[in-house]
Amino acid sequence: MKLTDLRGILQYIPQFREKTFILAIDAGIVVDDSLSTLLLDVALLRSLSIRVVLVHGAAEQIRALSDQHQVPASDFEGAGVTDAATLDLALTAANRLTHEILEGLAANDLRAACTNGIVAHPVGVIQGVDHLHTGKVERVDAEFLQSLLAQGVIPVIPPLGFDGDGKTYRVNSDAMAVAVAAQLNAIKLIFVTTQRGLLYKGAPIRQMLVDDLRQLLERDRAGFAPDMLSKARHAVLACNGGVPRVHVIDGTLDEGLLGEVFDNHGYGTLIHANEYDNIRPARRKDVHAIQMLTRQGVENQELLERSRGSIERRLDDYFIFEIDKNPVACVALHVYPEENQGELACLFVSPSHENQGIGRKLIQFVENRAREMGLRELLALSTQAFTYFQSKAKFVEGTPDDLPPARREQYRKSARNSKVLVKRLT
Ligand SMILES: CC(C)(COP(=O)(O)OP(=O)(O)OC[C@H]1O[C@@H](n2cnc3c(N)ncnc32)[C@H](O)[C@@H]1OP(=O)(O)O)[C@@H](O)C(=O)NCCC(=O)NCCS
Repeated sequence: MKLTDLRGILQYIPQFREKTFILAIDAGIVVDDSLSTLLLDVALLRSLSIRVVLVHGAAEQIRALSDQHQVPASDFEGAGVTDAATLDLALTAANRLTHEILEGLAANDLRAACTNGIVAHPVGVIQGVDHLHTGKVERVDAEFLQSLLAQGVIPVIPPLGFDGDGKTYRVNSDAMAVAVAAQLNAIKLIFVTTQRGLLYKGAPIRQMLVDDLRQLLERDRAGFAPDMLSKARHAVLACNGGVPRVHVIDGTLDEGLLGEVFDNHGYGTLIHANEYDNIRPARRKDVHAIQMLTRQGVENQELLERSRGSIERRLDDYFIFEIDKNPVACVALHVYPEENQGELACLFVSPSHENQGIGRKLIQFVENRAREMGLRELLALSTQAFTYFQSKAKFVEGTPDDLPPARREQYRKSARNSKVLVKRLT
């Protein structure tokens, strides 16, 4: 491991400390050799004071047990009908898997507990079909799970729910993970699968806004294989339930989990909720607001002075961050198509709204946009905020030679001597 990797990880610590991650582990991973690596990575998350809950599935083991004992199963995923024989298989499979996870956690000196914290009720009769022992989550005993998390214990949750009468129901593990993530206010729900991410028409989606995923599901559900369709639907439900980020990763990869969590590029799929609600494209009537907003930055020589005409000419590049309809920050993304580069410019947060993460949101917004446009690199020029770009947004210091020729010429003429910051996007 390189020391720079460690630096990269350390920058996330304040953001993640005492926050909750839900790992929804497909059964295929539990029996795979990769489980031990995954649990080692869980130990690393715990050492950074990240609270971790493990939810697991059991489909593959139910299938294996069904074959082994020649007992036909009515359903594997916990979404169809669960008859008595299948519930029996599910109990055996789930308990075995929970045990394997507990063993693996013990081997990493991690304290864990399997709980009855999921209250379920029967799905009931749907379109005339009684789903028997298939349940859906009625309530997550969040207080109980939080008390375990506060003591450094990792709750391990099988795809089973309990009702008040002592009955057990088979619950779909994706749905279980979403309910747990929403109830525990998790900041991440990570589906750990044996695939390269969320596959649409066989290819992994790298990053997508939840609204776009919802539309894709409405337009072309058939583009998702059944297991992927479940992940896609539940990712949307999780974001709607308040989980800001849902990841789908390949748990068989050595760096699948850590790469996804600690590297902006990620290795799997990131579905993110719209955290950028306050950001909108600038309109003609905002030109004055942009000038007023940035005036202080110009006076402090933090920003280049921009004339009304120069903003108007590239108005489509500008974005406004609004609170209660008042512009409190702005940013621009200038694109250099020939070089396939973008420049993040004119970033300014009103002093009355500093230190609330607005600057970071604007940078992330511009970065996402640049990635969606397929740009290879994002540049920024700064005189006084270069360490901000480095420490908060993972830019590295470059040289004027990194700038597109026309921009380099302008840079030389301005004699501002700004630092050049670069972030590779591909
Ligand atoms: C730099 C700027 C965009 C930060 O915006 P913000 O919304 O206050 O920043 P965030 O809330 O995302 O981040 C705050 C963190 O950044 C740090 N920070 C703020 N300004 C900084 C700077 N100039 N240099 C280094 N770190 C800085 C804060 O100390 C805080 O650190 P912490 O999280 O460790 O406590 C804002 O101060 C600004 O508009 N500056 C003037 C214009 C400018 O220089 N723009 C960049 C050139 S394009």
